[in-house]
Amino acid sequence: MSGQQEILKVAMPKGRIYKQASKLFREAGLPIPADFDDTRKLIIEVPEAHMEFIMAKPVDVPTYVEYGVADIGIVGKDVLMEENKDVYELLDLGIAKCRMSVIGLPDWKPVINPRVATKYPNVASQYFRELGQQVEVIKLNGSIELAPLIGLADRIVDMVETGQTLKENGLVEMVPIFGITSRLIANRVSYRMKNDQIQKLCDRLQATLAARA
Ligand code: PRP
Repeated sequence: MSGQQEILKVAMPKGRIYKQASKLFREAGLPIPADFDDTRKLIIEVPEAHMEFIMAKPVDVPTYVEYGVADIGIVGKDVLMEENKDVYELLDLGIAKCRMSVIGLPDWKPVINPRVATKYPNVASQYFRELGQQVEVIKLNGSIELAPLIGLADRIVDMVETGQTLKENGLVEMVPIFGITSRLIANRVSYRMKNDQIQKLCDRLQATLAARA
């Protein structure tokens, strides 16, 4: 089994992380095909490098990796915390930096049983539970900043990157909860069975990150 190199399946997140992740892989000399950025293909094979890329919705990356249909994946710490899947976190890739924050209108006043809208109900529930505050968490799937503007929620828990969305909607960041960067994760069984390949990839990425720093 160890003699022949197997295909390493990599779950790549589409969307905001993707550009920085593919740039990092290219810098590390990993085989990202030239048409990678434009294609609508969902599975991209690079047989000469014994790799296959699965183009995934970011929130699904930990699921693919947990089930082992992808050996490794790239995912934001926000998704990792929210999804809480049984995967190894191998490397902080230092890309797609942002933070998770509590956000509200500038004239926000505490109320009993406030409503908090978020894409991250587990993260938000845990945060307020640890503070001993009782809140009603409302799950939304996007444009979270709308919630306080139209009276659906008192506050929101969401990620802040440039702060542009907050600024343009007259909202303020009240409390930063934790910093977010993208992580390299691995399936537990793959990590043992394909350890050589995964370790080599980690080493290359680590060397690239060190050179960047
Ligand atoms: C994210 C996040 C904020 C925004 C923050 O939304 O939920 O709305 O980006 O970025 P900024 O600080 O640079 O403005 P995303 O663009 O992923 O879309 P969504 O609202 O549909 O979730």
